[in-house]
Amino acid sequence: MSLSQLSTKHLLGIKYITKEDIELILKTATEFKEVINRPIKKVPSLRDVTIANVFFENSTRTRISFELAEKRLSADTINFSASSSSVSKGETLLDTVNNILAMKVDMIVMRHPAPGAHHFLAKRIDANIVNAGDGTHEHPTQALLDAYSMQEKLGTLENKNVVIIGDILHSRVALSNIFCLQKLGANVMVCGPATLIPRHIASLGVKVEHNVRKALEWCDVANVLRIQLERQDMRYIPSLREYALYFGINKTLLDSLNKEIVIMHPGPINRGVEITSDVADSGQSIILDQVENGVAVRMAVLYLLAGRVG
Ligand code: CP
Repeated sequence: MSLSQLSTKHLLGIKYITKEDIELILKTATEFKEVINRPIKKVPSLRDVTIANVFFENSTRTRISFELAEKRLSADTINFSASSSSVSKGETLLDTVNNILAMKVDMIVMRHPAPGAHHFLAKRIDANIVNAGDGTHEHPTQALLDAYSMQEKLGTLENKNVVIIGDILHSRVALSNIFCLQKLGANVMVCGPATLIPRHIASLGVKVEHNVRKALEWCDVANVLRIQLERQDMRYIPSLREYALYFGINKTLLDSLNKEIVIMHPGPINRGVEITSDVADSGQSIILDQVENGVAVRMAVLYLLAGRVG
């Protein structure tokens, strides 16, 4: 595989990488997707690299996907959960990470509830840092795997219409997707109740729509987001039942459109709230393709960042 360089040694967010970086990651992911579909799903590319997966927040998909990506690349991996660590004894983030790095770890994949935690670390440590989600800020590898999955389905994102529906206010997936889709030439709309749409989001160059039917009539792809129950520190919606009624994506609504659109969801799904099972599990849905592609995309990110040490 030819080694081309990213413009950065960290993946802190999609905002901070170029269109060329994104295209290089997606192109490299295609090569790794071929690898993980072989009978022997492993290459020696990162044989001498040690990666720590440092998770201060719960995760199913991202954590397993990174760990598998690392194993498929033959990296050595260690997994760290804040809940079972000395963080509960008061150790700081920087001390925790510096102690992990002292054991000759080369790369940190981190999920943290504080927006900007990765930027804080990037100024203070030498190892490569990959943002696996920082609070309500960015989730860059999710946006990259979403873009990869959309391209796989549509060929190109140039001039395609993508609506992100749901809890935009609390979503790191939304912000990373907006940056990524715009860099790849797509038109982006956000849709949801006014209380769950950030007030100044139109300044990012996205359309804002509060009527789900109109949003679906406009789009080629609908990326449906979870209502983040754990981040609802006040009542943004009267009830989940009302949210499902006015903003939920169901089969009756999709069947009433005069076209077929691609349905996506980053997971985890609240079935029957933002999306019904007959849509999530339908032929229109590429939700499990997103998960499959996540491993190849994360292999590409780790491989390319490892080539950018120093
Ligand atoms: N999509 C996503 O980030 O899922 P997890 O929280 O399970 O990692």
